Amino acid sequence: MRDISRVGVLGCGQMGSGIAQAAAVAGYPTVARDVETGLLAKGERSIQQSLDKLVEKGKLAAADRDAALGRLTFTVDLEDLAGCDLIIEAVTESLELKSGLWRALDPLCPPRTIFASNTSSLSIGVMAAAAGRPDRFVGLHFFNPVPLMPLVEVVRALTTSRETFETAEAFARRLGKEPITAQDRPGFVVNRLLVPYLLDAARARESGLASTADIDRGMQLGCGHPMGPLALLDFVGLDTVMRIAEIMFDEFREPRFAPPPLLRRMVTAGLHGRKSGRGFYDYATNPPTPIDLGL
Ligand code: CAA
Repeated sequence: MRDISRVGVLGCGQMGSGIAQAAAVAGYPTVARDVETGLLAKGERSIQQSLDKLVEKGKLAAADRDAALGRLTFTVDLEDLAGCDLIIEAVTESLELKSGLWRALDPLCPPRTIFASNTSSLSIGVMAAAAGRPDRFVGLHFFNPVPLMPLVEVVRALTTSRETFETAEAFARRLGKEPITAQDRPGFVVNRLLVPYLLDAARARESGLASTADIDRGMQLGCGHPMGPLALLDFVGLDTVMRIAEIMFDEFREPRFAPPPLLRRMVTAGLHGRKSGRGFYDYATNPPTPIDLGL
């Protein structure tokens, strides 16, 4: 197992900022990189808000929040990740984009650096090959909101070395997370089961089975879920779920992974969920109110 003393995070969106936050709170000097300063500023703000919330709730000491913020740096330059022992990528679910980043980083980083992807559906093996370090590449799949969700799926490609895998598992534990091991198949464990459920909820809404509020209340009150499936679609992002579903459908060719027309229409219309302010619910109101989908 290798020692990790500095962590890099590629992408400072919902997942990337959460991962950077968790690494900094766990004591790692952490460099977060995105393509423009506006995105970095947004990520930094959400880290600050999340840390403040944890302090307010008595889950984190104010001094630990300040120390975590002091361990974080933000950059647009890939070169600034060169000194990291572990680099975790959390950019948009595009194999071309991710592989391009790994190809650019490989010559910048020493051989000891481990590359990890937070992909939820793309092949770890394909990225490991593109990165040119097939044995030092692993999947580290976090869950949203990263500061609160205790799970990390650690994904072994055929080529991932035992040392890399054990280092990734130990890193997840040091972040206070519980790792589970998954094979390198689209969706791993959680999304393989969760995504068809979310798509079925959108189909149920599309078919007029029940209202948005009643589908969500049904699963919250009937099954004890913290969020109903349509609220969870909004939370994860309709565009993100659609992309994951397309990747899973391409791999498995099973209708249950095919995104339903309602989801496609909503994504095309810019109803991406919480991040765009509207999805199955309108987030301009408090509490959010169901959108009229004309169904
Ligand atoms: N940082 C810090 N604290 C946060 C936070 C954040 N980002 N978000 C919420 N909180 C805190 C709140 O302050 C609140 O604290 P208290 O309980 O101490 O009051 C607590 O978390 C609960 O927040 P809310 O009252 O706002 O809302 P809630 O009770 O519904 O809980 C939730 C929020 C934890 C997100 C809960 O609804 C939940 O667990 N939802 C399901 C999330 C889920 O399924 N995530 C997985 C998505 S799938 C995925 O991520 C993988 C993929 O690849 C697609």
